[in-house]
Amino acid sequence: MSAVQPANTYQPKGMLIDGKWVGSASGAHFTVENPARRKPIVDVPRAAAADVDAAVDAAERAFASWKKVVPRERGKLLLKIAEAIQARSEELARTIALETGNALRTQARGEANMTADIFRYFGGLASELKGETVPLGEHVLSYTRREPIGVVGAIIPWNAPVMLGALKIAPALCAGNVMVMKTAEDAPMGVLMMADICQEFLPAGVLNVLTGYGPEAGAAIANHPKIRKLSFTGSTEVGKIIMRAAAERIVPVSLELGGKSPSIVYPDADEDWAVDGIINAMRFTRQSQSCTAGSRLFLHEDIFDSFLKKLEKKTTALKIGDPLDEASDIGTIINNKQYTKVCKYVQDGLDRSDAKLVFGGLPPKTGPLSEGYFTIPTVFADRSNDWRLAREEIFGPVLVAIRWSDEAEAIRMANDSHYGLAAYVWTHDIGKGLRAAHAIESGWVQVNQGGGQTPGMSYGGYKQSGLGREFSLEGMLDSFTQRKSVTVNLAV
Ligand code: NAI
Ligand code: MG
Repeated sequence: MSAVQPANTYQPKGMLIDGKWVGSASGAHFTVENPARRKPIVDVPRAAAADVDAAVDAAERAFASWKKVVPRERGKLLLKIAEAIQARSEELARTIALETGNALRTQARGEANMTADIFRYFGGLASELKGETVPLGEHVLSYTRREPIGVVGAIIPWNAPVMLGALKIAPALCAGNVMVMKTAEDAPMGVLMMADICQEFLPAGVLNVLTGYGPEAGAAIANHPKIRKLSFTGSTEVGKIIMRAAAERIVPVSLELGGKSPSIVYPDADEDWAVDGIINAMRFTRQSQSCTAGSRLFLHEDIFDSFLKKLEKKTTALKIGDPLDEASDIGTIINNKQYTKVCKYVQDGLDRSDAKLVFGGLPPKTGPLSEGYFTIPTVFADRSNDWRLAREEIFGPVLVAIRWSDEAEAIRMANDSHYGLAAYVWTHDIGKGLRAAHAIESGWVQVNQGGGQTPGMSYGGYKQSGLGREFSLEGMLDSFTQRKSVTVNLAV
């Protein structure tokens, strides 16, 4: 493998099992590609069932003592990890940009900083693993304990791999669990770097990180008899496979799945701040490869054309280019499969007579952008919320604008989806905004902003967007602890 990596990016040393960097038991490996060049970067081990077994055994051994470490001491280790990640955040950001295609300036740096912040946040929560006492009478002491669950199997995607990995590692370990994590095929490097930093501070086996394919290593995790909890982020389709596997042995699951999130713009919000907010909510600078992308834009008919004109002006001013280039606002799609899928959706939009292309279209076939999986922000206008582009998660920069005149109809269309992850409402009328926020069936509604998640907020989906919450104290307690009641007879 010709491994000429850009300066200041992480060079993987293998997978992390029991505190050691190892290859796969079979010796097999696979290649990570740079999506901006369609060129190989590095080879990583291809884990299979035997590697999952080894990692689970190591984790189980480590659990015996990790669960007994005083919670605040575990918290202090997480705080040290946070500072160590912060100290190497530029290398982490460049590694993320290199393997995911997410632009360094607009995305990858933010992800690296957020990763440090996630460890910081959960490190400070260790003393909140509290139970309660139950008043059962003068001669009874009844109390509850928050106990860790055991070996957690974690499977993560590639779109914000390091942040999404940290969101499982930090709360699970804080609560006294141990973990076997599988990285996404396309983006293992940043997660391995994070694991490398964690391993400087953690006992061997507490965190194990495998690189491998979903139906192979992922399925072995989902079905492993010694794994006591499954935490998955990815497609709804695979989420169902994970949940079925969990049902076989009654283990709890947390699922963070897809979305087709609505943005509802009221007629009084035909202004630049709302346009900036829509660009942010649609995650155009992440090629819209985000589960929270506001990819259905419900515009009031009075402002439909004027709003789209402003949106075109601001969106087409964004610079698409090499993710590692400071000048780039927008990078690339992750891989050929996703790129082909996004292009197919754009072609479907172009072929549909009811839909009007507002701007964008298919990616260029020649020139520098054709060297990588670059796509261009694309907006279609249509009367209907019922066609494929308005119903399916595209996971690419294709936005569908739909007009509305009656508020109840807008909310009905917004809720007419099997997903329910995020939503956005735009209006100066706060009463209207909040009534809409309460009527929308989504786990997270933002009014007049289109930002990303912040530690402390419980984040997760309604309907087929998921199960369970992450990112918060309650998320840690609900997802990574189990409650035990102890009842003592004091009359003896
Ligand atoms: P995916 O859901 O197949 O992959 C996510 C993770 O699941 C990866 O680590 C993968 O190796 C693993 N996996 C795949 N099959 C598995 C199996 N049978 N058993 C256990 N683990 C398995 O997502 P993919 O194929 O990368 O993307 C397809 C679509 O999924 C995207 O177009 C997008 O719509 C959606 N997606 C949603 C994400 C989110 O954050 N909600 C993240 C990534 C993808
Ligand atoms: Mg898949």
